[in-house]
Amino acid sequence: MKNADSLVLSILSFALFSTISLATSSQIDASFLRCLTRVSPNAESISRVIYTPRNSSYTSILKSTLQNLRFASSETPKPLVIVTPVDESQIQTVIYCSRKTNIQMRIRGTGHDFEGVSYVSQVPFVLVDMFNLRSIDVDPEARTAWIGAGATLGEVYYAIAQKSKTLGFPAGVWSTVGATGLIGGGGYGILRRKYGLAADNVLDARMIDVNGRILNRNSMGEDLFWAIRGGGASSFGVILSWKINLVSVPKIMTLFEVVTTLEQNGTDIVHRWQTVAPHLPKEVEIRIVVEPIRTDSPADGIGTVLSESSQIRGSKTIRFRIVGSFLGRIDQLLPIIDQAFPELGLKRENCNELSYIQAVLTFSLISPESPLETLLERSSLKIPFKAKSDFVKQPISKRGLNGMWDRLLQTEPQTTNVILTSYGGRMDEISESSIPFPHRAGTLYMMYIRVLMDGDTTKALEWIRGLYSYLAPFTAPRTAYVNYNDFDLGVNNLHDPTSFEQASAWGKKYFKNNFDRLVAVKSKVDPTNFFRHEQSIPVRSC
Ligand SMILES: Cc1cc2nc3c(=O)[nH]c(=O)nc-3n(C[C@H](O)[C@H](O)[C@H](O)COP(=O)(O)OP(=O)(O)OC[C@H]3O[C@@H](n4cnc5c(N)ncnc54)[C@H](O)[C@@H]3O)c2cc1C
Ligand SMILES: *[C@@H]1O[C@H](CO)[C@@H](O)[C@H](O)[C@H]1NC(C)=O
Ligand SMILES: *[C@@H]1O[C@H](CO)[C@@H](O)[C@H](O)[C@H]1NC(C)=O
Repeated sequence: MKNADSLVLSILSFALFSTISLATSSQIDASFLRCLTRVSPNAESISRVIYTPRNSSYTSILKSTLQNLRFASSETPKPLVIVTPVDESQIQTVIYCSRKTNIQMRIRGTGHDFEGVSYVSQVPFVLVDMFNLRSIDVDPEARTAWIGAGATLGEVYYAIAQKSKTLGFPAGVWSTVGATGLIGGGGYGILRRKYGLAADNVLDARMIDVNGRILNRNSMGEDLFWAIRGGGASSFGVILSWKINLVSVPKIMTLFEVVTTLEQNGTDIVHRWQTVAPHLPKEVEIRIVVEPIRTDSPADGIGTVLSESSQIRGSKTIRFRIVGSFLGRIDQLLPIIDQAFPELGLKRENCNELSYIQAVLTFSLISPESPLETLLERSSLKIPFKAKSDFVKQPISKRGLNGMWDRLLQTEPQTTNVILTSYGGRMDEISESSIPFPHRAGTLYMMYIRVLMDGDTTKALEWIRGLYSYLAPFTAPRTAYVNYNDFDLGVNNLHDPTSFEQASAWGKKYFKNNFDRLVAVKSKVDPTNFFRHEQSIPVRSC
């Protein structure tokens, strides 16, 4: 009886609470909207870029680049208002009115954030979607380009390819990823071992600070310019555009792939790769995609090479796709691999010569024969997922690797994978404090683990957290990639200030000692902590 009563009570108070919070949010909403039209230099033009849930296209705009479907449910908090600025003054207006009416602001590029930071908040918020501000201006003679903050990598690669076949930009491998989110956290791709990160190749930036001032490298100063290249731009202001350095790429390059399994010495190859790949010439990069697969499905074609051990593991095995690229021709690549990594057994038929831009298409899983315009598509493969990362500093023993494969084989029915990305080369030459991204010399490779959350989500989370803690002794001291942000590492307090110590739980993993300098910059440029989210850089409280 008592239980039933308290249930009724809690339903009642929940209903009451929701009506109250609805009323409050529509009041906030109204005063915020009034402020926008009152303050804006052109009230009519700003009203054309404002969407509230009452506008019919609100939902389609919200969902357009909501990439992680884990945050697409009806329970996920939605923005009070979406603004899609077409000019910079509209962003200044939004910042002013958000501060004035005390509603939070979130900034979205193309919504690939792993934890939905750019479009979800637990407090009333406005979403500023940058998709209208994405013009790109490439200067092939100067080997530079200015790119609008809302541009995707595909749009950047496309614009460069229109001007030159021998210039590229060392950013990520997936065309729909937003350039600003990626650069803001570092940004690596196939050119990392030759040229470092995207953020290592930024020459200038324009941004709006908390006071609405438009700053460039000169007027923001070197501390702030340092912070936004890898420290997570959204803690510091709204990026408007970046000036990037373009790098040389050969007319023809080589992609290669070797597929093997647990039964075919896959573990030996991974074990050896750990120490070989980081020391290969800078022109070669090799990643390994590790996936559990069913061996009883004929479609895989691997069922035929089944050994007894995989039968014992319940008709599953691990497949290792060893994929790489080389900035040169097959004839140059083969002797390099033969000499340094004969165990890979790389043969001519595993290799494919392509132009750089065709390689870019291939890495976005687009056929290299497709028209280049395919790179301009902004909608992506949307899936619900949870992922984690670490950087491996010491080779993991075969026993350690086998323990990881065992955990991958346990997953049922969820889809999981692990991607290992070799570092070294140019990455080692850049100092740890050059930009906030600190995972440099001594890093063998990055590890990314992911689980698809399309089934039992509790089990999926348990599984990925279990694998992550299993890996602790192999990756100590633990680190993480801020662009693969993970709220399991800790989050800021929702209302109270967050202490330096509390924020160090994730901040030091992402940035090591650079975290201290990031906190100092943040405290100076945004002392009221206006630009904030669950893992934004905290303000030092004194
Ligand atoms: C399928 C997929 C592939 C990926 N591949 C790679 C890869 O190859 N290499 C790599 O390094 N990373 C990769 N990532 C990670 C990626 O770099 C980050 O998720 C990045 O933050 C995405 O940027 P976005 O604009 O698409 O995301 P959003 O979710 O829109 O933004 C991400 C963050 O940047 C902030 N932000 C966006 N625009 C601005 C702005 N104008 N001013 C200030 N802050 C802004 C947001 O507020 C948020 O904090 C990948 C992610 C996915 C989902
Ligand atoms: C959304 O609705 C409001 C109120 O009707 C209107 O003023 C505004 O222009 C609409 N937004 C867009 C983008 O059409
Ligand atoms: C696996 O390793 C063994 C022993 O080193 C070797 O004899 C065998 O040929 C290897 N198999 C494959 C598929 O590489």
